[in-house]
Formats: sequence, C-alpha cells, structure tokens
Amino acid sequence: MKILFVGDVVGSMGREMITEYLPKLKKKHSPDFTIVNGENAASGRGITEKIYKQFLQDGANMVTLGNHTWDNRDIFNFIDSSKQMVRPANFPEGTPGSGLVYAEVYGKEVAVINAQGRTFMPPLDDPFKALDELVDEAKKRTSIIFVDFHAEATSEKQAIGWLLDGRVSAVIGTHTHVQTADNRILPNGTAFMCDVGMTGPYDEVLGMSKESVLKRFQTSLPVRFEVPKTGRKILSACLIDVDQKTGKAKKIDRILINEDHPFMAEY
Ligand SMILES: [Fe+2]
Ligand SMILES: [Fe+2]
Repeated sequence: MKILFVGDVVGSMGREMITEYLPKLKKKHSPDFTIVNGENAASGRGITEKIYKQFLQDGANMVTLGNHTWDNRDIFNFIDSSKQMVRPANFPEGTPGSGLVYAEVYGKEVAVINAQGRTFMPPLDDPFKALDELVDEAKKRTSIIFVDFHAEATSEKQAIGWLLDGRVSAVIGTHTHVQTADNRILPNGTAFMCDVGMTGPYDEVLGMSKESVLKRFQTSLPVRFEVPKTGRKILSACLIDVDQKTGKAKKIDRILINEDHPFMAEY
C-alpha cells in the first residue's frame, strides 16, 4: 500500500499547489491513500470547511493538523462532523475533534494519528504517553498506522520515531516547514523522517512574507506575519510503501516540487 503525505499547506499559494499537483502526483505514483497537513491552509492560520472540502476534492483522503488547528474559528463548526480530519491527540480531554481516525482503503483499515511535540512548543499533554496509548488502541484494529508528529525539535521527533519503531508504519514530522533529508526505514520497519516540509510560498520564510519576518527579527516589535499570494511556489511530500499484511514500511522517498529542484521537471 502506497501512502502519499503532503506537508503543511500554507495559504492560497499552498492550496493552488495542491489543486495543480496533487492530481499529477497521484497519476505518477498511484498512492492508495493520500494525507495532507492543512494546519496553515487558511491564510497561514488554521483551516476552514470550504478548504477542507477542496482538499478532499483535489484527492486527499485525510487532513492532519497541528498547533494552528484552532486559529480559524470556523474549525469549531465542522471538526466534529469531519470524518477525514485528525487534530493533535494530546490536547486535554474534551477537546473537539479526534486524534485518531480510521479510514478504509480497499477493504483494509488505515489508522491516522496526529500528535504535537512539547519542545519549543506551547504546553500540551505528554505526546509520548498519548501516542503509546493510541497506537496500542489502533493496533487492535489494524497494522497500518500512520503518525503525523507535529513538532519543532528534531530530537523529540527522533525519540518518537524510536518509541514507535516496529509498532506503526510511519512516523513523519511536520511543523518546521523545511524538508529534512533523513528519510529512512528504522530497524523494525517504521518509515521515518524528521520533517516532510511545506507547500506554498517558496521565496519567503516558512511561507510567511520575508519582509514581515525580517522586521520582527530586526526590531523585536510585534509584527503581523503576512502570507504572500503571488510568487514562486513549493510542494513538499513523501511517498511510503507499506506491506499491507504486516504494516511494516518497505520504502520512503522524498518529493520536492520547486523550480530549483529537478523533480519539478518530472511533472
Ligand atoms: Fe505548519
Ligand atoms: Fe505547526
């Protein structure tokens, strides 16, 4: 079973990349299941129902989130009725939405779990404990388990990778918006990568206008980060091949689409 995962979609340029390239990626790689991280899809902050539905229409089967989950208030109107959406599992009990969602792919179940790190991030419940428990729960139903670990520190991401090695099909990081080149299969069969990278504005700082980010760094004054609407774009993703019977990963490849990268010419 092939799983395609596209990293943090930022603003309208990110959404345009999904609409343009997701069908092309699907045609080229024929993934059985496609996941998109949409935490920055609405002007860099959260997601709306309209955008969620557009992702599904463009070919996503599941949408994961992160620390920006609640930034757009529309989320409270549709998260509980959205069956193809996962938010970080380690929010306090009673938080709307779900951190573990199942989907059916050709009669097989896939579990998708989202969790958020705590190092250099807003305080949340322990992601190690939350993932430990949720993976055990998911294991009762399926061996194909995908984890989007939304975190800042590579150390925390690697630690989660080792915690779950052999217990899940993949632990893929999101949140830093920069793709890492450490894609590998851990010794017990879990595909791992510290960060899949972002999708959206390419010539900016993590998708936010470089002028506003520079101003914040240079003055230390509060500056609102704007998400540019025009310019060059990037799409960052990875493709994982999972043994359908055992749930173990066989292969993980990085995908980058931008003008500086030769992959762009392939599409
Ligand atoms: Fe993000
Ligand atoms: Fe994030």
